[in-house]
Amino acid sequence: MNNKRGSWGSNIGFMMAAVGSAVGLGNIWGFPYKMGKSGGFTFLIAYLCLAVAVGFVILLSELALGRRFGYGAFGAYNQLKNSRFKWIRWLAVLSPFLILSFYSVLGGHCIQYLSLNLAELSFGLQNHYGIILEGSTTFGAMLTKPLGCVVFTLMFLTLCYLINRSDVAKGIEKFNKIGMPALFFMLVIFIVRTLTMEGAVEGLKFMFVPGYAVEAGFISETPGFISVLGTAGGQMFFSLSLAMGIMITYGSYVHKEENLKKSSIIIVVSDTIVALMAGVAVIPAAVALAIASGMEYSEISLSGPKLLFVTLQDVFSDMGTLGPLFGVIFYMLVLLAAISSSISLIEVLIAFFLDSAHEKGHQSNRSKVAFWVCVVVMLEATLVAACGMGSNGIAPANLFSWTETGIYAQWNDCWLDFMDFISEGVAMPLGAMLMALMIGWELKPDFMLDEVNNGKEGGKFFNGFYTVCIKFIVPIVMASILAGMLKENLTPYNGGYSVTTICYVIAIAALIIGFIVAVKNGKKIEDSEK
Ligand code: PHE
Repeated sequence: MNNKRGSWGSNIGFMMAAVGSAVGLGNIWGFPYKMGKSGGFTFLIAYLCLAVAVGFVILLSELALGRRFGYGAFGAYNQLKNSRFKWIRWLAVLSPFLILSFYSVLGGHCIQYLSLNLAELSFGLQNHYGIILEGSTTFGAMLTKPLGCVVFTLMFLTLCYLINRSDVAKGIEKFNKIGMPALFFMLVIFIVRTLTMEGAVEGLKFMFVPGYAVEAGFISETPGFISVLGTAGGQMFFSLSLAMGIMITYGSYVHKEENLKKSSIIIVVSDTIVALMAGVAVIPAAVALAIASGMEYSEISLSGPKLLFVTLQDVFSDMGTLGPLFGVIFYMLVLLAAISSSISLIEVLIAFFLDSAHEKGHQSNRSKVAFWVCVVVMLEATLVAACGMGSNGIAPANLFSWTETGIYAQWNDCWLDFMDFISEGVAMPLGAMLMALMIGWELKPDFMLDEVNNGKEGGKFFNGFYTVCIKFIVPIVMASILAGMLKENLTPYNGGYSVTTICYVIAIAALIIGFIVAVKNGKKIEDSEK
């Protein structure tokens, strides 16, 4: 391995960093609601099956790929000289770059809400100034103040820069070794508070009891089996920070003797546990407030930015004296989760520049590279921050008048959705599908297993399991997630026409073409080796 790049100080430090990357906004605002809406415990079982057969397998492959070549995402793919899939290295840097554009804005919003609750705690805005800290009013006020959003995004990125500028052991690892236990501790405090609220049980039933979401009127109908699988797959995939080059990059700093299988299992399990805990912390609180204020269940926002910045702010405003204190703890917790994920994304971009320089025989200054990466990210994030989730008239739909052409769809709404569509909707599932086809059919699973098993034989059962998953299950699941994401983003709100079939055709065509290319080139790689 190339020592100049640095490596993790300890294996536990590496795992904290990987869990830190995985635990993010998705665990708090995505998983709990999706679980409740899609059948409670049954969803959890589907999620766990996919996490084992797909999530674990991709995670392990990415870590192994990084460690095998000792380079970050771009550099590692670059080493596969004869592969026809080398070009996916571009997807592996494009995705983190685009995701950062909105993740850092959301991180900025966390600081804004942290300050709001600090101000309430210090000055009693509600009682002394007669201001009502009502969730949707504060959220709307924040979004329509672009300058504020831009300034706080800058603050968030500055924090990330200060961590990323040191090498991984002193920066990312050190931050996560303190940040992750702190996050866990705050989550536990929050759970205790939530569970003592009147009506909390209703929230737990929503999350865990199959069918309760429809029965109690949270949603009008249960989604079908295929749609549940799609939801579980997409959530698992995003939540484990897969196909963003992160785990390849983190893997490149792992020592050769570490057991990657064990680490991957711990990462998957911890991420799922935190998602469940986050659900128990927030959903019952939101439902209890709805009961207390006589709201219909169907009216509560239980997911996405509205859960964080509208519903939960209402919970804190309604809690009395201790409300702002819990607000401070909560937004601090979310901020930690956002930072630990963002620094992993920034690390992919830093590694891209450092590795490229190294390949050319140069040595770059990490701190300088980190600075310029953050500056460029700030530029794209300014667009997302100023857009205010579509409030300020500069969304793609406004700029290009796409609404009038009849292709009005989700990604058109605001720059956040646009960036999310290209990264999470297209580049990531496509990248993961092609990576699996490459490992399964072109390079062959043994290539990866050798690294995974540290050069030893490895168990027969495990090797068989890995081979079946990477060759068949992962590509098929990823193609269906790709189809689902395309459909979700391209189907017009106003009915009009349905693009479902087209989306499935595109995804299946990509799967078949990828498969043929991998098999054909795989034969050539074998021949040239003989
Ligand atoms: N895994 C993170 C989450 O659950 C999401 C994430 C996305 C992290 C991109 C890093 C990069 O929110």
